[in-house]
Formats: sequence, C-alpha cells, structure tokens
Amino acid sequence: MAGSRLDLIAPEAPALLIGARADSDLSGFDPASTTIVQAMRTDHDALAARGFALVPTLADLSRNAPAPRSAVVFLPRARALARARIAAAAAALPAGAFLWIDGQKTDGIDSMLKELRGLAPVDDVQSRAHGKIFRVTVPGGGWLPADWTATDMELPGGFVTRPGVFSADGVDPASELLAAHLPAKMPTRVVDLGAGWGWLAAQVLARPGVEALHLVEADADALACARRNVADARARFHWADATSFTLPEPVNGVVMNPPFHDGRAADPKLGARFIRAAAGLLTGAGRLWMVANRHLPYEAALAEHFADVAEIGGDNRFKIISATGARRAAPARPRLRRR
Ligand SMILES: C[S@@+](CC[C@H](N)C(=O)[O-])C[C@H]1O[C@@H](n2cnc3c(N)ncnc32)[C@H](O)[C@@H]1O
Repeated sequence: MAGSRLDLIAPEAPALLIGARADSDLSGFDPASTTIVQAMRTDHDALAARGFALVPTLADLSRNAPAPRSAVVFLPRARALARARIAAAAAALPAGAFLWIDGQKTDGIDSMLKELRGLAPVDDVQSRAHGKIFRVTVPGGGWLPADWTATDMELPGGFVTRPGVFSADGVDPASELLAAHLPAKMPTRVVDLGAGWGWLAAQVLARPGVEALHLVEADADALACARRNVADARARFHWADATSFTLPEPVNGVVMNPPFHDGRAADPKLGARFIRAAAGLLTGAGRLWMVANRHLPYEAALAEHFADVAEIGGDNRFKIISATGARRAAPARPRLRRR
C-alpha cells in the first residue's frame, strides 16, 4: 500500500500490533501469529474479517493474547495515548525483544524518537511517506516513566476518562450546549449515537421520562468509561458503528453530537450518515436533538431524512437542531472510518 513503512521491517512472530487500522498494509504479517489491539469497532471488524486475532483494549491483552516476541505500535496523535500504547507493548514483551514504532511526522514521530532515544537503545530508523519507523530494543526492568502507563483520569462530577477518548480532559462544549436545549421531560426510549464517555447520556438520564437509554459508541475505551460514568439500570451499552446500528423496536428520542472527522481529515459525510441512522431508529413522531459545528452542511441530509427540521438554538460556533417526522431508510452498510 502506498505510503506504508511496514514492509521495511521483519518482526518476529508472534507479533503484537497496537493501533493497526483497517487500511494498514499488514501483508507482511501472518494472521495466525499476529494479535491486534484496536478499540474502534469499524477497524476492529475489518481486521477480524481478514483473519487476525483482535482484542479491543489494552486491558484485554494479558487475558487473551499469546505472549508476543515483537510488537509494532502505530502512533496516534494524542500524546497520552501514544505513550500508553508504548508502555503496554513494552510490558507485554520480554527483555531484548524488538518494539517498532511507526508514525507520521504530523502525529509526533520525531519527538517520540527523540524521547525514546533517551530511554532505550534505538536503531534502524527509516523514513518514508512523511513519517518514520524505528526499532527499540526493550531493556529489562522498568525503563519507561511510570506515568506512561494508561490511567483513568478523574473529572469534576466524578466522571472518569482515559487517554485518547474524545474530549478526555473535560466536558465537550458542544455537548454542554446540546444538553442545555434538551426538554425538561425526555421521551421514554432514547438512543445516544456516538455516546463517548457518557456525559451527554448522564444529562439525558437526569431528566424525568426516560425508561431506556441506548449508548452507542464505536470506541471501546470510551464505552468502558461510559459504563462506569452511567451506572444506571436504564442504560444499555452497545460497542457498535452508529451508522449501521439498529434496534428491534423504534425509539422516540435520539440525541447526538456526531463526529465529523474521519481520522485527520474533516468528513461531514460521517455526520450525514449519523443523521440517516437516527431517522432509521425513530418512530415518525419521535424526535432528534443534535448539535453540530455551525459551518457543517447538514441541512440537506436533515431535509432528506426528516419532514420537520428546526434550529432551536446555538451560538457562533455551534447550532442545535431538533427534527421530527423521520423518513426511515434502509439501514446503511458498515463503513470504515479513521480514528
Ligand atoms: C463528538 S463525540 C461526542 C461524544 C459524547 N456524546 C459527548 O457528549 O461527549 C463523537 C463520538 O462518536 C464516536 N464515534 C465516531 N465514529 C463512530 C461510529 N461510526 N459509530 C459510533 N460512534 C462513533 C467517537 O468515538 C466519539 O466518542
């Protein structure tokens, strides 16, 4: 695959890949002796379909994976998550094993190379396609700073988040604005599409009326936080792609603050697919409440899938939309997205 650096290395089997994506060139890896950690449901399912063994989170590693003899970390942009992936890979490897780090310049591969050079033997540095791949020989003992290991972060209000999840450092201002525009009484059956670590869902459940709330989230790490943050018997948790999510019975409320990035690139089509999915979940009399960045062009998708659409609030950054009269379309087929 154009731009891949993985053909430059020859990791020893069994290999552990942390953060490989659906579009990663894994042709050099034997699915029978490769375990991949991937939290995003879309990437996870696409890689599983290619025959690889997968676990959704780093915490699942020790339980399910065979002891690896080498590892590759795919560097994410979020610094804390990058460090957590490296710490998890290092903890899974024996002393003397090789750990490769692969990443783009824009995701901080150069500063990570510099940092690791101060901590362990690093060699075999290769550059290609606006990025680098390099090899770390894992030293024995505790060679990484203790704070590289992923730990839960505690936010005001008792919420917990983890490195790399959406808005890990605090409540997202768009979700906050949406919550301020929800009605005093909510419908009985509600879905939160792209529920993240659960803040918006908690606001929904704090209002009277809700009998069941489905939290749908593709990021297993975020959903694990949501399970802790929304300790309520009415909550149901779904590790799923919202754009193809269905329920046996329609609901009468959907809330959402949809993602509009597919990896690094802005992709408003992703939000449009969330709108379509929301319409597919609702009864005709049910209602959608959503927030979006003001510049995002969702009007056509809303008009296509709802008979009655209104902007009920907002500011110069965000718009709050309420829509009813869902026109149900056939459920979308799952699509791949970048983290
Ligand atoms: C803008 S955030 C909103 C999070 C949460 N509702 C809040 O209030 O903080 C969008 C969320 O959608 C999730 N997401 C992205 N693509 C998804 C997909 N295809 N299916 C389900 N969730 C997805 C992201 O992981 C992220 O948590």
